[in-house]
Amino acid sequence: MNSPDFFNSSPLAPAADEQGSIIAGLLADQAQISPAYFYDALGSALFAAICELDEYYPTRTESAIMVQHREAIVQSLGKPGVLIDLGAGNCRKAAQLLAHYQAIQYVAVDVSVDFLKQALADVQLRYPALQILGIGQNFTEGLTLPAQVAAGPRVMFYPGSSLGNFTPDQALGFLRSVREQSTAGVDAGGRLLIGIDLVKPRTILELAYDDPLGVTAAFNLNMLKHLNQVLGSDFDIAQWSHRALFNEAQSRIEMHLVAKRPLRVSWPGGSRDFAFGETIHTESSYKYSIAAFERLLAQAGYHSIRHWTDEKAWFGVFVAQA
Ligand code: AVJ
Repeated sequence: MNSPDFFNSSPLAPAADEQGSIIAGLLADQAQISPAYFYDALGSALFAAICELDEYYPTRTESAIMVQHREAIVQSLGKPGVLIDLGAGNCRKAAQLLAHYQAIQYVAVDVSVDFLKQALADVQLRYPALQILGIGQNFTEGLTLPAQVAAGPRVMFYPGSSLGNFTPDQALGFLRSVREQSTAGVDAGGRLLIGIDLVKPRTILELAYDDPLGVTAAFNLNMLKHLNQVLGSDFDIAQWSHRALFNEAQSRIEMHLVAKRPLRVSWPGGSRDFAFGETIHTESSYKYSIAAFERLLAQAGYHSIRHWTDEKAWFGVFVAQA
């Protein structure tokens, strides 16, 4: 049996920088916190719970598409190559794919290399002969791949509509950097396999981000607890409520935390007052039409774009050639 290799290419930003950018966000006219702060241990568990909700359709719709159109999707990936999983997390989606796509090597990239260790040990048990490489990297600012990545065509895998957290401009830059990395120093044949949430009626979208059980509310509020730890701030969760709304003009779900009354939040070296009803913007989740997303892929330099959807066209799985 093989065993996974690891490569930690970007240790997290120095603490001082990190604090500076959090504070800048809190002091902005429209206060904001990066969605990266959702994912402490409890936040990751709450996100996994969100994916089990009836109202949160993206995860199960994407996997149904992958099952229903497996043969065509796998065929569109071309000859066996290196499967590069961007934001691999628990590696479950890739593990499914690896049962049908013969990869030369599986490369899992995620911010948390610790989380990858257990997940990759499980993948290795299931595929004892597979070459596995785990990379700890915050690739959202642009992806760089180490020399340990095997030669051969690269299949970039970016499921779950994670791209939705970028603005369309940022998404374009990100897709370009991913495309460059799938052709840099390797033979042609690079592919992108990406899942994207599609535009649909407001009521369905808003219910998916504001479920009656309150799991998404807990996920959003938990960010304040996480921030108290990272920043030493004194957010009181009981003073804030969850709001999710579809901003149709910008084609994005926005999640906010709303102050229930006038509040002061303090941290070492500063503070901010919030008026009643004032919000902190915690996440944008952009929704695309099939045509708009195909245009974005083409703008990023991709060609031979194919896509598959569910019968309601709620979610799209796209394969494009680099
Ligand atoms: C992980 C960014 C794809 O936008 O749907 C789920 C995060 N936020 N419910 C999404 C999320 C609230 C999710 N992404």
